[in-house]
Amino acid sequence: MSVPILDTGIKLVKNVGSFGFGAGSLNDLPGYVNSRRTRAVEARGEGKVVYIIDEFFADRPEIIARLGAQTSDRIEFVATREEPKTEAIDQRVADMIAAGFSKPAALVGLGGGITLDTTKAVANLLTNGGVAEQYQGWDLVKRPGVHKIGVPTISGTGAEATRTCVMTNTRIGLKLGMNSDHTVFDHLILDPELTATVPRNQYFYTGMDAYIHCVESTGGSYRNAVGDAYSRETINLCRQVFLADDMMSPESRTRLMVASYLGGCAIATSYVGVVHPFSAGLSVVLGLHHCVANCIVLRAMREFYPAACDEFLAMAERQRVTIPNGVCKGLSDTQFRALYDATVIHEKPLTNALGSNYRAILAYDKVESLFRKM
Ligand SMILES: [Fe+2]
Repeated sequence: MSVPILDTGIKLVKNVGSFGFGAGSLNDLPGYVNSRRTRAVEARGEGKVVYIIDEFFADRPEIIARLGAQTSDRIEFVATREEPKTEAIDQRVADMIAAGFSKPAALVGLGGGITLDTTKAVANLLTNGGVAEQYQGWDLVKRPGVHKIGVPTISGTGAEATRTCVMTNTRIGLKLGMNSDHTVFDHLILDPELTATVPRNQYFYTGMDAYIHCVESTGGSYRNAVGDAYSRETINLCRQVFLADDMMSPESRTRLMVASYLGGCAIATSYVGVVHPFSAGLSVVLGLHHCVANCIVLRAMREFYPAACDEFLAMAERQRVTIPNGVCKGLSDTQFRALYDATVIHEKPLTNALGSNYRAILAYDKVESLFRKM
């Protein structure tokens, strides 16, 4: 795969407003939230806060107690069995408004990529009105969202740093985010202690999302020196984590949290490549989660990313993690057609990776044979 490199520069990039970082920094959350609460009380006489939390923490009262929620606040949990769907986001917003939380002082999202993306989408909808699918695309969100604070509890997706929140729109069979400056978090708490209890496989798959973003971005043609620098350091940190004896030691968890954040900054300034479009196909058609789908795809992508594919397999072996196999076995022609459609629609990343004639390279038979390898 060889595409001419174009120095795109960067027109404008919005970063996260502020962040705190370090083991135990969750303890700083109540103070930060209360400053927003006070500001809202002064402005309009009330300062209620909504906490949107990964359901995994429903059984972790010791974490919930540290959030400093008040009795007038709302705590809701997010199911993570399925990735966010536009209808589910719309329902959540409707429920929140019906419960009297149409103008919260802040939203706090605590969890993985699904929870963080849900928080971002809800924040935009509360101030912009309408339904989620109206804003799927580039720069369609008109007004700043509710002030939002992200607390990631797993590292890799970069959802804490990006200007998008990915949702599946089942009506049109497409996975697409609200790409907007208004989607960027106002504040983050990056506390590596929170990732200590993540199951090992999930920790690996999710961490590899950061690695894959940056392999794709440095393998593409639309480049700039800032994106390249973020990507190089993300890959470097991922190597330190996944080629170490224990990817989940406190040092490794700290490094991976930084890699996830920098990887998010990398994709905010550049594009992904061939892996993410195929992975989106697996998510839309077969319902596979984003991060495990990426791993399944990368293993089948040696012809496009030979060095990264080998390194990734070495990392999986070192950490004794297995990647699911045979996920496209026995699929019908209709399903392969749906996989093809949901893949080749991702014009920007595929052009970044393969050039403007990517549809000739990824002809139907080629795409089907790649899916069959997965
Ligand atoms: Fe990703």
